Amino acid sequence: MDRTLVLLKPDAVQRGLAGEIISRLERRGLKLAAMKMLLVTEELAHRHYADHVGKPFFVGLVKFITSSPIVAMVIEGENAVDVVRNTMGVTSPSDASPGTIRGDLALTIGANLIHGSDSTESAKREIGLFFSPGEVIDYTRDIDRWIIES
Ligand code: RTP
Ligand code: MG
Repeated sequence: MDRTLVLLKPDAVQRGLAGEIISRLERRGLKLAAMKMLLVTEELAHRHYADHVGKPFFVGLVKFITSSPIVAMVIEGENAVDVVRNTMGVTSPSDASPGTIRGDLALTIGANLIHGSDSTESAKREIGLFFSPGEVIDYTRDIDRWIIES
């Protein structure tokens, strides 16, 4: 089963859209495998956005992602990386299709609500930045222990 890292960025939390966005991902059939709320440090932001170091928007991006708490999640499901990216919509909300998270709920590229890993390799690296292995649910391993006796 594929996994991807999703971040609900500061604008999503501040606008009270965390539930709406999580709900859209769940209704798509994806599963939550881990979730936490945190304030991203300068160091974590630099590691997470290492590919963007030196780009004109990098300083503003780090300032934004560290500005107030975010929600970090591991999302699991078949083709989770691509399905999450398609559900998010393209980077710039003004180009994002209606029906996508960015296309329905966001307006500007600097406040585009959500991050989703762009490949399985990125997902693996990014999940490791935000979660320790023990914090991520393994549905195949844990499912038997969760059955509630009636
Ligand atoms: P994300 O990493 O947040 O999931 O978004 P993405 O893959 O769609 O976009 P990416 O190219 O990785 O850029 C990361 C974030 O940087 C901001 N950005 N601003 N002003 C600009 O031209 C610009 N370009 C990118 C966006 O917040 C984008 O999500
Ligand atoms: Mg990206």
